[in-house]
Amino acid sequence: MGIFETVHNRKNTRSVKWDMVKDLFQSEEVLPMWVADMDFQAPDAVNKALIERAKHGIYGYTIVDESVKSSIVNWISKRHNWNIKSDWLSFSPGVVTTLHMAIQALTEPEDTILIQTPVYTPFYKVIEAHDRKIVKNTLVLENNRYTINFQDFEEKLKQGVKAFILCNPHNPVGRVWTRDELEQMAKLCQEYNVLIISDEIHSDLTFPNKQHVSIASLSDDIANFSITCMAPSKTFNLAGLQASYAITPNKKIREKLDQQFLNQGFHGLNLMGNTALEAAYNHGEEWLDGLREILQSHYDYVKSELERHTDLLVIDEDGTYLVWIDCSSLQLDAKGLKKFFNEEAKVGLNAGADYGEEGKQYIRMNIACPRETLEEGVKRIIQAVQNK
Ligand SMILES: Cc1ncc(COP(=O)(O)O)c(C=O)c1O
Repeated sequence: MGIFETVHNRKNTRSVKWDMVKDLFQSEEVLPMWVADMDFQAPDAVNKALIERAKHGIYGYTIVDESVKSSIVNWISKRHNWNIKSDWLSFSPGVVTTLHMAIQALTEPEDTILIQTPVYTPFYKVIEAHDRKIVKNTLVLENNRYTINFQDFEEKLKQGVKAFILCNPHNPVGRVWTRDELEQMAKLCQEYNVLIISDEIHSDLTFPNKQHVSIASLSDDIANFSITCMAPSKTFNLAGLQASYAITPNKKIREKLDQQFLNQGFHGLNLMGNTALEAAYNHGEEWLDGLREILQSHYDYVKSELERHTDLLVIDEDGTYLVWIDCSSLQLDAKGLKKFFNEEAKVGLNAGADYGEEGKQYIRMNIACPRETLEEGVKRIIQAVQNK
């Protein structure tokens, strides 16, 4: 059986997704298809590298050496066509940690930060936690696909924005922003002197015919006012190992960011994260391309089944393993929707309302699981909707 077909029992592994089902969804029977990790094993090369490292048995303080940095530099060049320098890198346990650091290091309380909603919930929290103000450039749904209202984007920047947290690819709407869209956003940020903090954690997970473009790779000028956050965690299912990095070409910005990490006691990467990152980037390409095919086929399956058997609408996406589903045909409010999926469908999904009020008629479904699990989830949803 293929690596992406095997069903693994993840219960009692301290899995947030599987071991919190009762607490979050009030019943052990609920099938978890929520938080963004995958039910697939990491590539063999990663597992072997971790086992080898564990055999040594000594887990002291660890450095991120040049070979780890080179694995990142090569990866970004090969996969994203962007030539970075290893001294542009800062290391962090997670992208959300980096967002907190960047906001504190590079903006002031009361500054305004732009986000494109609906969006990944921690974006709101990161801004609010440090007493900065949120301004929204609400995404527009056009022909079942999300796009950007550039006029509104500019209006918001005109009113005075210090930083823009871009999500590319976008969670939850699944857009991989095109070069043209990125150029337009970058041009406006440059004009209004806005720092770009680009969360590209999903950048490796585009559908097979889609290419991710890093906004900072568009030109040296744009790179000069940007921080790009990336990680192997979503790509290779390594979230529990807490390894991520930021790419900041501008020395002054990078130094401020690095100082913030130090001020809060963060340095380097944990040794298992270090080991897994290097192995994944050096040996994980084939595995990743196999995964991208699977995710495309899972997305197509969910879309065709749900739209054939129900009035739910699956939004057109370019990547990620998070599917954004319009449930307005169910005519339930946000609370009712949550209750319906928990209690009637018995599928544990993310409530769209958690991504902003624009999402209250939506749910987000994680399709990074073996086909058997996916089919069970889809079947439960179809049955519940048909019985409603
Ligand atoms: C857009 C985005 N950023 C960041 C994260 C989490 O990153 P980390 O676990 O590295 O903090 C996620 C996880 O779902 C995400 O979707």
